[in-house]
Amino acid sequence: MTVLEGDCLQLLNTIQSGSVDMVLTDPPYGIANEVIITRSRDAQKFGKAKAITHNFGEWDKFAGFGDFMNFTKRWVDAVVPKLKGGGMLVSFFDRDRINFLSHYLQSQYGFKCKGYFAFIKQNPVPQARKVKFMNGWEVAGMWQKPGGKLTFNYENGQQPDYIFLPICSGNERTEHPTQKPLKAMYPFIRYFSNKNDLILDPFAGSGTTLVAARNLGRRFIGIEKEKKYIEIIHRRLEKFNLKRAETDERQLGFDL
Ligand SMILES: C[S@@+](CC[C@H](N)C(=O)[O-])C[C@H]1O[C@@H](n2cnc3c(N)ncnc32)[C@H](O)[C@@H]1O
Repeated sequence: MTVLEGDCLQLLNTIQSGSVDMVLTDPPYGIANEVIITRSRDAQKFGKAKAITHNFGEWDKFAGFGDFMNFTKRWVDAVVPKLKGGGMLVSFFDRDRINFLSHYLQSQYGFKCKGYFAFIKQNPVPQARKVKFMNGWEVAGMWQKPGGKLTFNYENGQQPDYIFLPICSGNERTEHPTQKPLKAMYPFIRYFSNKNDLILDPFAGSGTTLVAARNLGRRFIGIEKEKKYIEIIHRRLEKFNLKRAETDERQLGFDL
């Protein structure tokens, strides 16, 4: 159970090669922009009318497609040797660019694409500008590293390649701008790993992968470079400690 603060491009070197059973991550997609849409005029329509921003932080800004792909290849190159042969790499990614990631993993490292998974949002953010559909789903790609046996816990029953959930809110919500719901992570962990397996998230954010892994009895290594998010991770893990007795497998069950 390790949380490392710093740049994963450097810290990944400290992890033993071939020691990770599964990589589950949600890296920067390069979709941040400076636009802030204030909605005071539409207050009636949008309730509290909080401003909408896609300015997530410096960590999601790139100088263009080349810069973004260069960064993506660098983290992939650093992560792949850490994964065991046969292990799964699951990554949320920009819908428009996920094919580039898939192509790189397959052509450079011989990974096999096991499909794509959609997190469909029950309550997507309204399109205040009224020029396109609401952005109602996110995609994760699922790829298997060559050189070993696949873990797929089919005894868990049938699982469609989508999950229908509200965006993260209530008690679970932290200050992290792109926090994923825990329930969006459970299917990957349940099917592609076993108890006590080691799960790596090099872009841990608020620690959703780590908390989900821990809840399901897996070990984890998380890396996050922003101190303020590291603090959130520790807070979330601590909270889990206090409630440990409540979070057994039976209670979490398959209530996804
Ligand atoms: C999309 S967010 C992950 C959100 C996470 N799935 C959650 O539910 O909270 C990506 C995270 O990667 C971090 N990050 C960006 N570049 C990094 C790097 N080179 N090394 C480590 N962390 C990095 C950002 O600070 C951000 O918190």
